[in-house]
Amino acid sequence: MKINSTETVIGDLEMRERRVKADIVRDTSGDTENAPQKVRNKLQTSKELHRRLAVIDEEIIRVFNSERGEPEILYDTALHLLQAGGKHVRSLITALSCEAVGGTFEEALPYAVATEFVQTASLIHDDVIDDDDKRRGVESTHKKFGSRMAILAGDLLVARAVKLVSQHATPELLDIVATTGVKMCEGEALDILMYIVEPGLLTKESYFEVVRRKTVSFMRGAARAGATIGKATEEQIEILNSYGEQMGYAFQLRDDILDVIASETSTGKTALSDLKGNKTNYVLIHALSESSEDEVNKCTELLKEGKTDFALELIRRSGAVEHASALAQEYAEKAKDAIRNKGLLNEDLLFVLADHAGERDF
Ligand code: IPE
Ligand code: IPE
Ligand code: MG
Ligand code: MG
Ligand code: MG
Repeated sequence: MKINSTETVIGDLEMRERRVKADIVRDTSGDTENAPQKVRNKLQTSKELHRRLAVIDEEIIRVFNSERGEPEILYDTALHLLQAGGKHVRSLITALSCEAVGGTFEEALPYAVATEFVQTASLIHDDVIDDDDKRRGVESTHKKFGSRMAILAGDLLVARAVKLVSQHATPELLDIVATTGVKMCEGEALDILMYIVEPGLLTKESYFEVVRRKTVSFMRGAARAGATIGKATEEQIEILNSYGEQMGYAFQLRDDILDVIASETSTGKTALSDLKGNKTNYVLIHALSESSEDEVNKCTELLKEGKTDFALELIRRSGAVEHASALAQEYAEKAKDAIRNKGLLNEDLLFVLADHAGERDF
């Protein structure tokens, strides 16, 4: 049941690895141009989500372009990744959480746009930190425009998000945005501190601490904001908070799995980025926890030289992808459990989004 797609993943692991390597060897920039469209198509399997995604998409660009200043290059830099799309999972959480408690999609829309401004800013900066070349199927912002302009473009998007929220919302909502931002910075900083440590020394406990801040806090904040806009009761806010929280763990675990098994063509992002850059990745941490001390040392040394073959061998041998996939789906189930039969108005759509977080392959 839960791990249907995991079995496929495991069965496909070798084939996918070969594809990843082939992608790295050949220039896939042509292929990856199609990735955002693919991303869109899959979430749009639900007509209801499709409708919301289309409106959010259009609104992001409309709002951004409604206040363009100078120099033009700064605005073009910020627009580069906004235009490339993205899955819009956090803004959907906001919109659906608002509607879940009786609010309207329209009420949540400005906040959904602000959420995507912050999300895009965090990714522009994350790609500088991780030195990744590809994002949302296009060149990462700093590769195209240089790190200096990319950093400023990220700052601009955060400032625009604050402006947008302040025009439409209360101090309480501003506080949610600010708290989310603080936690995300802490998580990203911890992530940097962790990957300069030997990968063999990373523990699952420290991994989950990083994820709680860098990913979970944003998902939880998105749910809390939506619920607050929809005038939820305290109890409803707690229910949706918990949904966002479990979604966050599912989402990041799946992200780590995709780093290992997926090609650039499917994710639109640099493949094997975590392994090559010695970055925190649950799949690797699990594989190392199942390996001997000698293997851990050998793997660590090889990864430092950018050689991933032995790490992939340990991952395959330990069944780490299968284990992580089951865990991601468990978190997605927990997200669904948190909201099941609680009288929310769109439980079915929130379920679709939770399943997506735990099983997505893009
Ligand atoms: C990437 O987020 C950062 C992580 C927390 C893994 P997404 O995978 O949601 O990125 P977009 O917005 O869809 O491009
Ligand atoms: C980034 O995590 C989370 C953020 C807060 C931006 P990752 O570094 O794993 O995200 P990707 O894989 O580059 O999207
Ligand atoms: Mg990254
Ligand atoms: Mg990162
Ligand atoms: Mg990642």
